[in-house]
Amino acid sequence: MTDTPTRRAVLGAGVFAAGSLFAIEYGAAEGPLPPTPACHDGGEATQQQTEGPYFKTSSPERFELYEEGMSGQPIELAGLVLSRACKPLAGALLDFWQADSKGQYDNSGFRLRGHQFTDAEGRYRLRSVVPGVYPGRTRHIHVKVQPSGGRVLTTQLYFPGESKNRSDGLFRKELLVRTAKNAGWIAGRFDFVID
Ligand SMILES: [Fe+2]
Repeated sequence: MTDTPTRRAVLGAGVFAAGSLFAIEYGAAEGPLPPTPACHDGGEATQQQTEGPYFKTSSPERFELYEEGMSGQPIELAGLVLSRACKPLAGALLDFWQADSKGQYDNSGFRLRGHQFTDAEGRYRLRSVVPGVYPGRTRHIHVKVQPSGGRVLTTQLYFPGESKNRSDGLFRKELLVRTAKNAGWIAGRFDFVID
């Protein structure tokens, strides 16, 4: 087969190449993941959480934080940014940062840091690895979400089935990502509801 640029681009997606386009629609082998949390008109906005000590401004614009050969469990996290009335918000900014699989943040560079904007349907997706634990904390991904012209929501996302969720005082079950296993990677789903 000829190695066309298109084919190279697809192969470049590496571990996620098999079947992954948008986890929100195609991610789980058994079908789409149900949204979490379910949005209902008049319902609660996504909870705020502390930013912690490792946020850095000026992260690169990218949804792919995973790098070839990076250790850890690859994950594609996807979902929507919604208003309190459950309307998808296009052009909302999401800025993600997290520890690597060993629990280390990159504080000199921008490894495992990146920002992106929701598409016309209010969707985002993030390709990364499941973060490692560090003293006092269970696994978590930090994020700031800001609708166009709106206020910033700073929060953290958590993973189901983690024993350290119980001992981490910041953990909230409302901030759990819904996950499904795939061939070599995990599909995750989380929808943000913004005031
Ligand atoms: Fe953290």
